Amino acid sequence: QDGNYKVNDLQLKDNKRAQFVKESLKNLILSNEQIEKVGEAFKQEMSSALDEKTSSLQMENTYIPELPNGSEEGTYLALDLGGTNFRIILLELANGEFLKEDFKFYHISDEARLGCGIELFNYLAECVKDFMTLKNMPFDMKIPMGFTFSFPMKQHSLHSAELVTWTKSFNCPSVVGCDVVQLLQTSLRKHGMRNIEVLCILNDTTGTLVEGARLDAKTRIGMILGTGSNAAFLERADRVHHWEGERHGEKNVIIDIEWGAFGDKGTIDFIRTEHDKEVDNGSLLKRSFTFEKYISGKYLGEVVRVVLKSLCDKNLLFTKASKDLFPAPWKFGTDNVSHIEEDALNGCSNTSTVKVLDKFNYRFNIDYDEDDIKVIQYTTALVSYRAALLVSICTSVLLNRMTETDITVAVDGSVYKHHPRLKKWMVQLIKELSPEKNFHLMLAEDGSGKGAGLVSAIAQRINTRNVC
Ligand code: GLC
Repeated sequence: QDGNYKVNDLQLKDNKRAQFVKESLKNLILSNEQIEKVGEAFKQEMSSALDEKTSSLQMENTYIPELPNGSEEGTYLALDLGGTNFRIILLELANGEFLKEDFKFYHISDEARLGCGIELFNYLAECVKDFMTLKNMPFDMKIPMGFTFSFPMKQHSLHSAELVTWTKSFNCPSVVGCDVVQLLQTSLRKHGMRNIEVLCILNDTTGTLVEGARLDAKTRIGMILGTGSNAAFLERADRVHHWEGERHGEKNVIIDIEWGAFGDKGTIDFIRTEHDKEVDNGSLLKRSFTFEKYISGKYLGEVVRVVLKSLCDKNLLFTKASKDLFPAPWKFGTDNVSHIEEDALNGCSNTSTVKVLDKFNYRFNIDYDEDDIKVIQYTTALVSYRAALLVSICTSVLLNRMTETDITVAVDGSVYKHHPRLKKWMVQLIKELSPEKNFHLMLAEDGSGKGAGLVSAIAQRINTRNVC
């Protein structure tokens, strides 16, 4: 039995065509042997990184040694940067509960995302000023801030981190290698906000883990399946060799895996298809974040588009349609993948797929027929299932690494929330891959924002303790 048995077989009126399509797409189906090899590679790369040996994974020490304990309190500002928009959030905590969460989204222009880094940070500071003015916040009273920066970082402490590389749709080259907390703190000062103190920097997966632990004390893993993908987990501190500064007897520490980069050193090239190579070649950061390109929202739509295009080129899809209708590179978003997948839930209907085709101006019976719909649905299912499988393999490696049997995995992100079958597949697959674990996938909404408040409160607690 191969790992793909949960995607329905392709049945077409034209049986020969079905056979050709299946033959063309067979590389998207992972064999049991490949599944095992991916798991082994992930396990190996995690250990190597913790031992400070060569690895594609960062396994970054976040210096957060504990989870919420119900005593978190105070008022915090949070800055959440990671997607197309960014947010400024005002959070109020008492007895570990949120009394208030007030936020505003700010748009980040292409120039800011791809231009000079100083301008990006100046823009962030201007937005903070706008937000504080809007909320009537004082400019002369100390305000602690948590900075959720969802990119790979090299952390030196809870409040110091260098950007390793940009990912997703950011690329301001001059920021790479710089301490982003310092950049933010400097621009805040320059814009008259000397009263803001950035207490901590964290990743969205760390925020999700911490918020998850607030909701359910069994949470040990935080995961994002959104534009990008990554996970963080609670590791035994004695397994973590990279530790700058003094240790204070910490038993555990949160590790930010940065699993999006898994495979960047070629260890899982055996699953890489021609389609994946094409997606990578057309991406903003080539040969970087290999794993993310198989699984995350920034790429899934493009993978489906590239595969469908190859079927068109082989005359196995849209034989009657004009070539002009076919979406251009990066114009087939992952939301379409989720919509097409909805049909699989509704007793193999075609309604959602037809709506997606309508958007691109395809007309039924003229440009496409029932068999075309089935080919599109089959392709979308295969690409989606491969993503669910890969994420499940890594999740199960993490679960198996832990001594606890009952573990909650806190998850957030657009793909997880909107893909209709992903969660179901993940539950089934993780069960098979980690039969001895009792796990629960829990949606922890807005971990990237709330987590910044919680980690700021934890940072204050640790600082006070270490000073005493
Ligand atoms: C990218 C970032 C990572 C983040 C993930 C989800 O992979 O490198 O830091 O956690 O996206 O937003």
